[in-house]
Amino acid sequence: MPISEPVDVFAPDLLKGQVAFVTGGGTGIGREIARVLGRHGARIAIASRRREVCEEAAAELRGEGIEVLVDQFDVRRPEEVERVVQGILARWGRLDILVNNAAGNFPAPISKISYNGFKSVVDIDLLGTYNCSKAAFELAMRDRGGNIVNIAAAFELRGVSWQAHVAAAKSGVLSLTRTCAVEWGPHGIRVNGVNPGATGNTEGMKRFSEAVRGSDAKPSNPMGVTSHGQDIALCVLFLVSPSARHVSGQVISVDGAGSVDELKMPVPSPGTGPA
Ligand code: COA
Repeated sequence: MPISEPVDVFAPDLLKGQVAFVTGGGTGIGREIARVLGRHGARIAIASRRREVCEEAAAELRGEGIEVLVDQFDVRRPEEVERVVQGILARWGRLDILVNNAAGNFPAPISKISYNGFKSVVDIDLLGTYNCSKAAFELAMRDRGGNIVNIAAAFELRGVSWQAHVAAAKSGVLSLTRTCAVEWGPHGIRVNGVNPGATGNTEGMKRFSEAVRGSDAKPSNPMGVTSHGQDIALCVLFLVSPSARHVSGQVISVDGAGSVDELKMPVPSPGTGPA
C-alpha cells in the first residue's frame, strides 16, 4: 500500500543561510513550497498579484518561525520582477533559490479560448518564468550560483483536452529549463523542473472540478492518489539540496505515474463546462 501522507526525511537545517523566492507563494502549491523550504532553514520571499493572500501566507509561515518577505508583482512585467529581486537583495543580500511557481490557468476547449485568453496564459506561465529566471540570473546568481526550479505540469508531452494554452506554455517552460541549465551550468546554477499531477487544495483543481461538474471526468493516475502540495514541495527541496548537486536540466513528474500511463486524461463530455 502507498504511504498515505508525504514524509519529510530531510535535515531540518538543510537550507540554513539561504534565501528562496517562490513566485505565487501565497496560495496552493507555492505556499507549500514556501513552507517546506522555510522549515528547512531558508529565508523566504513570496510575491504575487494579490498582496493580501501573500500577507496571509506570510503570517502563517512566521507563526512557524520562518523569516518571510512579501511583495506584490505581475510576472508578466519585467520591471516589476526586477524590483522584487532588488528588494530581496536589499533585505538579505543574496538570492540562492528561485521557484517559478506563479501560473494562470482556466480549463476550456480550444474553441472557447479567445486569442487574448491563450496569450494571457502563455504570458504568465512561459514569459513569466523567463522574466523571473533572467532577473535572478542577472541580478543575483550569475557570480554566486544558485538553483532554479520551474513548476510545470505533468501533461505537456501529450494532448490534454481543455488545456491547450497551458500545455503549450508549460512545454515552453520545460524547453527553457533545459536551455537555462546548459547556459548557466558554468555559473554554478542548476535548473530543474517539477511536473505536478492533480494536486489537492489548489486553485487549478478547483477550476477543473467546476468546469467538469455534471460530467464523469475526474483526474486519475495508476496510484489512485491525489498529490498533496507537500509532495511537490519535497521534490523541490530535493532538487535544490546538495543531494542533487549533479542534477540539472531535468524534470521530475510527481503524479502517481499519470503522465506515463497509457490511458488518456479525462475528456469532459460535450455540453459540460463553460458555455
Ligand atoms: N474561459 C474562457 N476564457 C477565459 C476564462 C475562462 N474561464 N477566464 C479568462 N478568460 C479569458 C478572458 O475572457 C480574457 O480574454 P478576452 O480579453 O478575449 O475576453 C483573457 O482570458 C484574459 O482574462 P483576464 O481575466 O483579463 O486576464 P488576467 O490576466 O487578469 O487573468 C487568467 C489571467 C486568465 C489566467 C486568470 O485565470 C488568472 O488570473 N489566473 C490566476 C490564478 C490561476 O489561474 N490559478 C491556477 C493555476 S494552475
